[in-house]
Amino acid sequence: MPKKDIHTENILILDFGSQYTQLIARRIRENKVYCEIHPYNMSLADIKSFKPKGIILSGGPSSVYDEGAPMIDKELFKLRVPILGICYGMQLMTKLLGGEVQSSNKREYGSAKIKVKDSTTLLKGFVKKREHEVWMSHGDKVEALPKGFHTLAVSKNSPFAAVAHENKRQYGVQFHPEVVHTKNGEVMIENFVFDICGCNPAWTMKSFIDMEIKKVRELVKGQKVICALSGGVDSSVVAVLLSKAIGDQLTCIFVNNGVLRKNEAEKVVSLFSDNLNLNLDYVDAEKIFLKKLEGVTDPEKKRKVIGNEFIYLFEREAKKMKGVKFLAQGTLYPDVIESVSFKGPSAMIKSHHNVGGLPEKMNLKLIEPLRELFKDEVRALGRELGMPDEIINRQPFPGPGLAIRIIGEVTKERLDVLRDCDEIVLQEIKRAKLYNKIWQSFAVLLPIKTVGVMGDERTYENVVALRAVNSLDGMTADVVKLPYSILMKISNRVINEVRGVNRVVYDISSKPPGTIEWE
Ligand code: XMP
Repeated sequence: MPKKDIHTENILILDFGSQYTQLIARRIRENKVYCEIHPYNMSLADIKSFKPKGIILSGGPSSVYDEGAPMIDKELFKLRVPILGICYGMQLMTKLLGGEVQSSNKREYGSAKIKVKDSTTLLKGFVKKREHEVWMSHGDKVEALPKGFHTLAVSKNSPFAAVAHENKRQYGVQFHPEVVHTKNGEVMIENFVFDICGCNPAWTMKSFIDMEIKKVRELVKGQKVICALSGGVDSSVVAVLLSKAIGDQLTCIFVNNGVLRKNEAEKVVSLFSDNLNLNLDYVDAEKIFLKKLEGVTDPEKKRKVIGNEFIYLFEREAKKMKGVKFLAQGTLYPDVIESVSFKGPSAMIKSHHNVGGLPEKMNLKLIEPLRELFKDEVRALGRELGMPDEIINRQPFPGPGLAIRIIGEVTKERLDVLRDCDEIVLQEIKRAKLYNKIWQSFAVLLPIKTVGVMGDERTYENVVALRAVNSLDGMTADVVKLPYSILMKISNRVINEVRGVNRVVYDISSKPPGTIEWE
């Protein structure tokens, strides 16, 4: 069940499996209104106790006529809460309220135009009788409206592109207002959230911090908390937030696993311990990890070795501190959404690890202050906490670090080569002012050598691949079309400055079918 103590105004999104469900949530939160995504089969009792000010039924890949198609309790429509059905959500609403839906194997996918007939409520701000561009992605369509509904907009394909039952405050749209391709889609969402549901834009980072601090103090009282600090955005924000809440009762443990970026350990110690005055337990385990990684070439084995050793060391450190009762973690909202669509088929492709398994093993209670936030919201939170941009805007970095960017065996020598390449990529991407616009940009060291010529000498050295991708959440990713001038600059610098590399290539695979990391 959702924790219902701090958000007084909520929008509930029931997920029917659409790839766009998370976007709906983001569009609402951008308006400073809190919302949560839950699976479509959330019980009516839970929905009632969530006390939503509005409910959105998402799209989904099913047809309402499919056997086992996701259903909801008809009673939902009697709650007197405004409802917006999007695509599948609209078709389901139509069917359950007595209208007709036509099944079709033909999908309408892509840009389409709607003509607005009524712009007084949901479509306020859309010019009447004009055409507006929207994004469609559906097979089935509504054929006849339930009693009391009327048309707000039509499209070439349907007289019911947007519909409403104004008295009951129930609305349906065939298109997707949450995707950017729908012009003015955000206005429609604002109309629903503010005018129709009556929400206020009260959910700010400042209010979030105040409430979280209060909550953590009440929970922890005088007891001790530990936090695994990785230097990444999420764990850093957790550490700073908690230290504001409970000061000295918090100890952060930072494990140098030997597969970090250049000077990373020094930077983390300097920032958190020297500047922010946090209790920091620095564990230099470089040698231990490298020893464990000797001869390991299988990607999954590397991940397991690093994950297990990390847990072992973390546990050992934690035990040294007496009376620790809580473990703070930077779990984000996308990790906890139980939505139908989110985890998707790719969830088990790689064994991602954070500090999995630790809390149960050590009998610790979890504190996860970010579990309701998306990544960009965590960054906003960090900014509000006064943290430096250098930490807040960091690109994600995987737990197993450079070990999964060195194909083949991980040795100190190969790590140093990759660290130097990585540093150059970072510098050049920052110099081009692209760092904050790219989800991840990095170098990968390949296990092959090729022939080159430098000066008048033949060389036989390593190949490095560059990777730069954009992504919303890491689940899918597009290749960034880096300008040739930047690629050339990086390539020249890497080959000239890093001993042991004589060739640089650019990875142009999207995810899927590629993954972001090479291992
Ligand atoms: P892939 O390579 O699966 O990565 O496309 C998706 C995102 O997750 C990051 N990643 C990890 N993060 N522990 C982490 O904390 C891990 O084991 C791990 N493996 C991959 C990756 O950098 C990308 O952002």
